[in-house]
Amino acid sequence: MTDAILITGAAGQIGSELVPALRARYGLERVIASDLRMPAPGAPADGPFEHIDCTRPEQLQDVIRRHDVGKIFHLAAMLSAVAEDKPQAAWSLNMGGLYNVLEMARQYRCAVFFPSSIGAFGPTTPRDLTPQDTVQRPTTMYGVTKVAGELLCDYYARRFSVDVRGLRFPGLISHVAPPGGGTTDYAVEIFYQAVRYRHFTCWLAPDTRLEMMYMPDAIRAVTEVMEADPARLTHRNAFNIAAMNFTPAELAAAIRAHIPGFVIDYEVDPVRQAIADSWPRSLDDRAARTEWGWAPRFDLAAMTADMLEKLGARLKPAR
Ligand SMILES: NC(=O)c1ccc[n+]([C@@H]2O[C@H](COP(=O)([O-])OP(=O)(O)OC[C@H]3O[C@@H](n4cnc5c(N)ncnc54)[C@H](O)[C@@H]3O)[C@@H](O)[C@H]2O)c1
Repeated sequence: MTDAILITGAAGQIGSELVPALRARYGLERVIASDLRMPAPGAPADGPFEHIDCTRPEQLQDVIRRHDVGKIFHLAAMLSAVAEDKPQAAWSLNMGGLYNVLEMARQYRCAVFFPSSIGAFGPTTPRDLTPQDTVQRPTTMYGVTKVAGELLCDYYARRFSVDVRGLRFPGLISHVAPPGGGTTDYAVEIFYQAVRYRHFTCWLAPDTRLEMMYMPDAIRAVTEVMEADPARLTHRNAFNIAAMNFTPAELAAAIRAHIPGFVIDYEVDPVRQAIADSWPRSLDDRAARTEWGWAPRFDLAAMTADMLEKLGARLKPAR
């Protein structure tokens, strides 16, 4: 087996959908899923899985050598709300894990995908149509690790010619795996509660506008940026990508178009509200559009219809 693909943090919200997508595209045996925890029953266990703690370089090295890995999709990280609760552990995983992956990529000549986030921006960044290249002074540990991660990726690309590419994901909405403790998780949870109870208590204020994306668009963006012609890329890493932006009140109205009795109320969590208030309301993604042809397919209405259809087939209303 040559040129295998390794995914770290593969049991999480993104990995649960990226693993099957990459296996469908590149072959089942070629894509090695890995995580600190074992995959949930029924999760994509129909292919190679390795236990890897990314903070342990020898574990990464062992798998890269044994499988002749040529490309690493590095998803293992601590998300924004959890990282604010455990900032020291977040630094150690988010920076230590990325450093280990980049070092392995340098030594074994692997390409790397690194997911950054709208969390890489901060309160002094322009919040509407946030530019690709702009002020990045985040005030959360998550944001600090994402900016430092973007810079470290750029450094490895320039200094050691590692082919490292990446995207700044907005909040991601999906129905396959639960989200891992981010600030935008409300936009997933609301669908589960709407289908089950027709009621949701939101931890962000009704007018909190944030950039969001439906998972099928995010997965497509990952494969497209990794397959893009390098000659066309001037940024390579940390591309802004956008699809839709909305407030909790607007999302509730979109759900009400399908579930007329749906009720939303609000109990604002000051920690997550402060994080959200420091993030972009919308992103300028023209660099991604021109350099590798990015175009989203799901807007708010299309995403809402698809989420409710998929969850409605799986979940029963509680009453
Ligand atoms: N989900 C989003 O909305 C979103 C938005 C922007 C950026 N991102 C980024 O995308 C990446 C993946 O996010 P996600 O939502 O899938 O996260 P997640 O929390 O759902 O999954 C992360 C996975 O990493 C694993 N992990 C934790 N510590 C580990 C370690 N030491 N070694 C190996 N694995 C470990 C966890 O078990 C988990 O399965 C992260 O870098 C995140 O910052 C996510």
